[in-house]
Amino acid sequence: MNFSFKQYEESAEYIKSKLKGFVPQIAMILGSGLGYLGDEVENAVFVDYSDIPHFKTSTAPGHKGRLVFGLLEGKNVAVMQGRMHHYEGYSYEETAYAVRVLRLLGCETLVITNAAGCVRTDWKAGDLMLITDHIKMFSESPLRGENLPEFGVRFPDASKLYTPELRDVARSCAAELGTELREGVYFYCYGPQYETPAEIRAARVLGGDAVGMSTAPEVIVAGHCGMKVLGFSLLSNMAAGILDQPLSEQEVLDAGVAAKDKFSRLVRSCLGKI
Ligand code: HPA
Repeated sequence: MNFSFKQYEESAEYIKSKLKGFVPQIAMILGSGLGYLGDEVENAVFVDYSDIPHFKTSTAPGHKGRLVFGLLEGKNVAVMQGRMHHYEGYSYEETAYAVRVLRLLGCETLVITNAAGCVRTDWKAGDLMLITDHIKMFSESPLRGENLPEFGVRFPDASKLYTPELRDVARSCAAELGTELREGVYFYCYGPQYETPAEIRAARVLGGDAVGMSTAPEVIVAGHCGMKVLGFSLLSNMAAGILDQPLSEQEVLDAGVAAKDKFSRLVRSCLGKI
């Protein structure tokens, strides 16, 4: 099923009716265990996904399922606490639905984070990675189906989805904070099973540095509607087959907690400068 432009507008209108003239500039989608940044928003107005017409709710653990509007580092933000994933049963279009709604509300920039497996054997779990590009060519596009020209063109360019100027900001913020920031390519796998060791070897050969089950659909849609994008992965675990131990969701959530301060300082510092 494809959503109509009118449906996106209806979602945006409902949210607008709660915002009393507040216009968000920066949309933030926060991944597993990282949603706490939403709790740091000042003058917060909360809107539950379940109250918004046509909106889907997040069923993943550690995802709250609400939008938080307010101020963070002096910027008008819209924070998604909880995101939708394809593995929850949503189409890619549904997975990225909120991005278009946030665009209609005024957001020009998307800051997006995730927890990801570390494909590189010379990096370690707990590292932060600036996403320079992604690979999502083994699953369909969130833009499949009728194009909505109100958002963008039929065949959008994807050569700079992760905005170079914002990557520069992230590098300089990390340097200022003394935070080590890796840079690499996010390899999208739709899950929900973690990858096999053979899949990780394939991802590595194909140019992936981190592997995860989110982000790429939302970023494709953000690029289509002209948003700038800044993306980070918290490398929560070594990807399958690198260590002789099974992967677990607990490990991913624990890594989010452990990296909380480092991660939050970096993202807040970037926010202040974009
Ligand atoms: N694979 C896929 N998704 C993930 C991983 C992983 O190893 N870690 C956190 N999200």
